[in-house]
Amino acid sequence: MEFQFISVALLLLLQPSNLLALDNGLALTPPMGWLAWERYACDIDCTNDPDSCINEKLFMDMADHMASHGFRNLGYEFINIDDCWATKMRDDKGMLQADPVRFPNGIKALADYVHSKGLKLGIYGDLGSHTCGGYPGSLGYVEKDAKTFADWGVDMLKLDGCYASEADYETGYPEMSKALNATGRPIVFSCSWPAYIKTPNYTRIAEVCNLWRNYDDINDSWDSVLGIITHYAQNQDQFQPFAAPGQWNDPDMLIIGDFGLSLEQQKAQMAMWAIFAAPLFMSNDLRKLPKESKDILQNKEVIAINQDKMGKQGRLIASSITKHSGQRKSPEVTNMVFARPLDGGDLAVAMLNTGHFSGPHNITVSFKDAGVSWSKASVRDVMNGMDLGMFTDSFSAPVNPTGVRLVRLTPAK
Ligand SMILES: *[C@@H]1O[C@H](CO)[C@@H](O)[C@H](O)[C@H]1NC(C)=O
Ligand SMILES: *[C@@H]1O[C@H](CO)[C@@H](O)[C@H](O)[C@H]1NC(C)=O
Ligand SMILES: *[C@@H]1O[C@H](CO)[C@@H](O)[C@H](O)[C@H]1NC(C)=O
Repeated sequence: MEFQFISVALLLLLQPSNLLALDNGLALTPPMGWLAWERYACDIDCTNDPDSCINEKLFMDMADHMASHGFRNLGYEFINIDDCWATKMRDDKGMLQADPVRFPNGIKALADYVHSKGLKLGIYGDLGSHTCGGYPGSLGYVEKDAKTFADWGVDMLKLDGCYASEADYETGYPEMSKALNATGRPIVFSCSWPAYIKTPNYTRIAEVCNLWRNYDDINDSWDSVLGIITHYAQNQDQFQPFAAPGQWNDPDMLIIGDFGLSLEQQKAQMAMWAIFAAPLFMSNDLRKLPKESKDILQNKEVIAINQDKMGKQGRLIASSITKHSGQRKSPEVTNMVFARPLDGGDLAVAMLNTGHFSGPHNITVSFKDAGVSWSKASVRDVMNGMDLGMFTDSFSAPVNPTGVRLVRLTPAK
């Protein structure tokens, strides 16, 4: 099989247009934490699923584990509720209320508990008439709901976009952003805006939101992870330049420690989310997390790349397409190389073998393609904590199928 490498136009130096970024001083590095949705969805059957239904115990358990198993100290600080926490009707004053059976102490008490663990609490709403799960939305109640969340001590809001029109997005997201600001409480604002419309105006979105989902919901499969990576690679000119401190593209949750990914694929997701400067929200069961998944999620060198304070999102710099004789109709992308410049002059590089053709591939990154001015660098494999030596002009290494090699290049003095 032949690999044909194609260099992608170099735009690493594009200026982010963050001059008018949302000015709440929050999320200066990609936010990290835990979010219920991918793993627990809208399971409200606490009789049959006492350990995996959406109730206050689930979030308290996760807070306990984040605080006592090393996550909090590495920067994972948010415990985030997703859909299906509320009652189906507002109360007689028009206020949102938590389901009294599943959250008997209310959201304020849950926030107090989470804060007592040194963590922060996130909640979920929708700008339309209903949430995606059919609970009350904020349409017509924006200021009231913002005030409710602030009074409860909530630290982050994910505002979804079900049951809304295109016009509602244009007005609803800015209105909620303004209403959150007016509460005086610092609340990180996560929008689903671009995921719902055809041609998002990212300049506008970055003025209003701290992070925003661009694409489909993740699910527990490599197909889903690779689909998101491919979307980010193919559409990078549209949204990569807008990532910066306080404003992030969000490729959705980490599914490391769940059921659908091999160990190699779990490392690949972590590596790619680090290169993408992505928010790191785990959606897994921290009470039953396999040791090898925990090690990936707690890899300090990988987290350091993700949290790099310059906040530049990595870009695809090269990819290869393989033509295969056989039944396949069209050539497929077999390898992709992404690079992310880091504060202080290092470069993070992720070399991905998509797994469309079996066997490890030898992947090469040319320093010239990466757009750096130097030609000699020491290379460190950050996922495996190994120095690989000094290289001139390029670096090559074998990469396993559906795997990523994540390296950090430090220019020679
Ligand atoms: C509200 O916005 C102003 C600037 O427009 C900013 O200085 C302030 O920190 C914001 N407050 C909150 C709570 O987000
Ligand atoms: C995008 O939003 C910016 C900032 O609000 C605005 O100046 C610009 O006109 C918008 N672009 C389009 C095509 O609507
Ligand atoms: C998961 O995502 C993949 C890729 O987008 C999609 O093909 C698949 O149908 C999804 N699976 C489920 C169960 O939603």
